[in-house]
Amino acid sequence: MKSGEPLAEVQDLRISFPSPQGYKEVVHGLDLTLYKGEVFAFVGESGSGKTVTGYAFMGLLPSYVRVEGRLHFLGRNLIGLPPRQWHSIRGEEISMIFQEPMISLNPTMKVGQQVAEVFMLHQGMDKKEALGQTVAILGEMGIPQPEIRVQDYPHQMSGGMRQRILIAMAMAARPKLLIADEPTTALDVTVQAQILALLKRLQRERGTTIFFITHDLGIVAEVAHRVGVIKGGLLLEESKVDDLYDEPLHPYTWALLEVLPHWERHGKDFPLPQVREEGEGACPFYPFCGDAKEACHNRLPPIKVLGERKVRCWLY
Ligand SMILES: Nc1ncnc2c1ncn2[C@@H]1O[C@H](COP(=O)(O)OP(=O)(O)O)[C@@H](O)[C@H]1O
Ligand SMILES: [Mg+2]
Repeated sequence: MKSGEPLAEVQDLRISFPSPQGYKEVVHGLDLTLYKGEVFAFVGESGSGKTVTGYAFMGLLPSYVRVEGRLHFLGRNLIGLPPRQWHSIRGEEISMIFQEPMISLNPTMKVGQQVAEVFMLHQGMDKKEALGQTVAILGEMGIPQPEIRVQDYPHQMSGGMRQRILIAMAMAARPKLLIADEPTTALDVTVQAQILALLKRLQRERGTTIFFITHDLGIVAEVAHRVGVIKGGLLLEESKVDDLYDEPLHPYTWALLEVLPHWERHGKDFPLPQVREEGEGACPFYPFCGDAKEACHNRLPPIKVLGERKVRCWLY
């Protein structure tokens, strides 16, 4: 998938929140390229900076948040774009499925009307045309009897069906980039597999690039072409999905894979985790890393490029 043209290029993205001690940086210089038509999985534990990165793509970080660096999307830098110009990008060129499905839908409004509003707002359709398109897209999203289900309120639908509604809303304006923030986390395993299959199909049939945010490396193999592993606001590894499962480079990636039930080890025994004190400017995995050396505690390793892969670790 890397052969495609770049759709978005993130360069030295830094995101900082104000705190009583001054600005606190939570994303520390992220470099990332998303290629047209690929699924890129952005994997990391809770608090690592995944959602705030997704918000940066949507121009949704509040004005008190400091956002630095460049985020090129089809040739223009989105960082610092005036709010008026975001209107033609957000929802049309780039859209997002938010992490909290229950707050993303209005409980007092029929789901069909909520999807129809997106068609009216972004495609300038009248109500009748928009409702027709809504039935069509709900069908395309795998909702049975869409002409009846448009009359449902969100609470009348299952979690999986609600997630399909949110995907329909995100896809209504045919965006080029879809940010999917933990889209299956709240769902049980069977429904999770169905939603993953749906996203995969959208990528295949519509050519949508998907930035797939998850804390679960176990589901990444099913959807993604490439994977970025983030911890503490730092990208630690970026690899094609097959390479990552065959031979993870970063000890942190090893650790994430070790806990998966079906992952086959390839000869290497991962050393038992040890817990040390975190160092200032240290590798974020240093406190738990069995391969850690003195340097890992004192100096942050730079990103090393190894062919098509990237790793941030003094082992390389
Ligand atoms: N509104 C906020 N104010 C202050 N800090 C925040 C805010 N939102 C997120 N953060 C911090 O930014 C970091 C990354 O958060 P987030 O992107 O939500 O993580 P993830 O999605 O990977 O779980 C965390 O340390 C979090 O505490
Ligand atoms: Mg999150």
